[in-house]
Amino acid sequence: MFSLLCNIWLNCMLLTLSFFSLFVCLVVYFLLLRTDLENKTLLLQGLFLIIKNVQEFKSRIRERGICPLRWYRRTLSAMHTAAEPASSSMALRYCQVIFAAVLLLLAFVGILLVVLPAKEIEMPPEDMYGIVLDAGSSHTSMYIYKWPADKQNGTGIVSQHSECHAKGGGISSYAGFPGGAARSLEPCLDQAVKDVPKFRHHQTPVYLGATAGMRLLNIVNATESQQVLKEVANKLRSYPFKFKEAVILSGQEEGAYGWVTVNYLLENFVKYGFVGRWLNPGRETIGALDLGGASTQITFETSEEVEEKHNAKELKLYGKTFRLYTQSFLCYGQDQFLRKLLAHLIKTQGVKANVSHPCYPQQFNMSIKLGEDVFDSPCTKSYRPAKFNPQMSVLVVGTGEYQNCLKNVVEMFSFKDCNYSRCSFDGVFQPPVKGSFMAFSAFYFTHSYINSLTNIAITSPSRLKDAIRLVCNMTISEMTEKTKQPGKYMKNVCAVSNFVQVLLTKGYRFDNDSLPSISFERTAGGASVGWALGYMLNLSNMIPAERLELMKALPPRLWAGILFLFIVVLLIALGYLLLTYKKQKAREGVM
Ligand SMILES: *[C@@H]1O[C@H](CO)[C@@H](O)[C@H](O)[C@H]1NC(C)=O
Ligand SMILES: *[C@@H]1O[C@H](CO)[C@@H](O)[C@H](O)[C@H]1NC(C)=O
Ligand SMILES: *[C@@H]1O[C@H](CO)[C@@H](O)[C@H](O)[C@H]1NC(C)=O
Ligand SMILES: *[C@@H]1O[C@H](CO)[C@@H](O)[C@H](O)[C@H]1NC(C)=O
Repeated sequence: MFSLLCNIWLNCMLLTLSFFSLFVCLVVYFLLLRTDLENKTLLLQGLFLIIKNVQEFKSRIRERGICPLRWYRRTLSAMHTAAEPASSSMALRYCQVIFAAVLLLLAFVGILLVVLPAKEIEMPPEDMYGIVLDAGSSHTSMYIYKWPADKQNGTGIVSQHSECHAKGGGISSYAGFPGGAARSLEPCLDQAVKDVPKFRHHQTPVYLGATAGMRLLNIVNATESQQVLKEVANKLRSYPFKFKEAVILSGQEEGAYGWVTVNYLLENFVKYGFVGRWLNPGRETIGALDLGGASTQITFETSEEVEEKHNAKELKLYGKTFRLYTQSFLCYGQDQFLRKLLAHLIKTQGVKANVSHPCYPQQFNMSIKLGEDVFDSPCTKSYRPAKFNPQMSVLVVGTGEYQNCLKNVVEMFSFKDCNYSRCSFDGVFQPPVKGSFMAFSAFYFTHSYINSLTNIAITSPSRLKDAIRLVCNMTISEMTEKTKQPGKYMKNVCAVSNFVQVLLTKGYRFDNDSLPSISFERTAGGASVGWALGYMLNLSNMIPAERLELMKALPPRLWAGILFLFIVVLLIALGYLLLTYKKQKAREGVM
């Protein structure tokens, strides 16, 4: 009798075991399918191995002819010593119950696992999109970002989908030309209409942030800057996207958003771990150095006291508070700096037909108008002669003298007067720079020009000096030949390189130890580095202030559905078992 019992039980168990292995196989298979594993054959081999093992296990047990569950037999015989046939039929019933329950459960889970990933593979993951227009002083760039619709709070989830650079000048250059600024954005916005899938248009937020160019226009003529913003906002509203705002960012915001972008792209806040948990990568954040056309920003985390409250910014991200020092220098962007340098040279040499420029390459000359090219900016106001003719042309003749150029560039900064314990320049407080930095925008281009012109790696202030000395001695044709870049960029490389050198070493005080910790980048993680991404992340609340605990690997709705089904199956199985138990009790009562 026991051998029969044992046999039934054995078959029962083996069936369960087979189904269980099949279930495990399915789980493994679909999990791997989801991760797009290339080598599917390996997986199939593994599957066969498991099935083979089950077969082997079964035959081995058969051979030995032993019941693997002696304890169960003992329990049964202890309970029903009286009637062996009864215990046999009861064991059969138990077996049926367990088998049915397990089968039910596994079938459901199996079906779910088969159905869900298959659906996901058929349909491309549905992305959400966001558009940011970076309205800089010299030009406007548009960035389209995307992220999976169901996940948006993690670091590294948002990526750049595409970008577009509007032709013509920055929106501030259209002041006094109604309609011009809005028209200049049309080609890029039309591209966005094509780049973002149609069904997402009305859900796609669009932001426009204007920076130092508009800050300057706002100083010169606030009516005109408001006019330009209004006109641009109306243009954005006329597109099928969800218009959010068109504003002028403060220098502090611009700096902080750049810092957020850099650290988000490098996953310095949190990282999605292999185990499906958000982890704190335990990395230091890195500082951000931005050089635009009209302003430059420095932002880094500091533990020192920030003596000037305008320079302090606290950000609460992913449950951690970051104390930042941030400073934006208006008129220290490369275009405005070059204007100031010209104004300075004209002021020191006097207003005359020929002005020599030590930073322009030898034999290079260029005719400029005193009004629109030099003094028509709030940045050059202090250099403006009492009386001058704005229409007067001046021939600027390059001399290519490194030392003289450097001297003039240093004179553009003021290192006197500091009302704090320490300053960078122009009386602005700055704690000592700390940690690594990423330098982007015009810093990146300047660095890459110096590199391709001289092949010198910038690993110390003295090597930077050597490299710039070489650059300043080159003629414009040498430069255009080496870099394959047009002369309009090359004529300024010596001046801007010296400016960057003075700004970094004398201004921000990067020294032998800290200068090598600056990496010059244009992109990180496939996205352009700038303030635009940080601005969108912040305005759309995609960086929560609270810590991310466990994030579900499945989309929330699917997750809830699966959970529900699991519970239902569990209840059915329990109910069925309880029913059988009661029936059994009743039968025992009758007997
Ligand atoms: C500002 O611009 C408007 C429109 O172009 C003009 O009417 C006004 O006079 C300007 N104001 C100043 C202070 O220049
Ligand atoms: C200016 O450059 C042109 C060629 O580009 C040259 O012919 C001319 O002599 C230069 N003028 C001066 C003053 O160096
Ligand atoms: C930096 O390094 C250069 C040479 O590598 C050396 O001459 C100079 O004294 C160093 N400066 C400091 C502040 O250590
Ligand atoms: C992301 O975080 C914000 C703010 O904490 C929250 O409102 C939102 O529901 C979160 N989104 C997801 C998908 O978790």
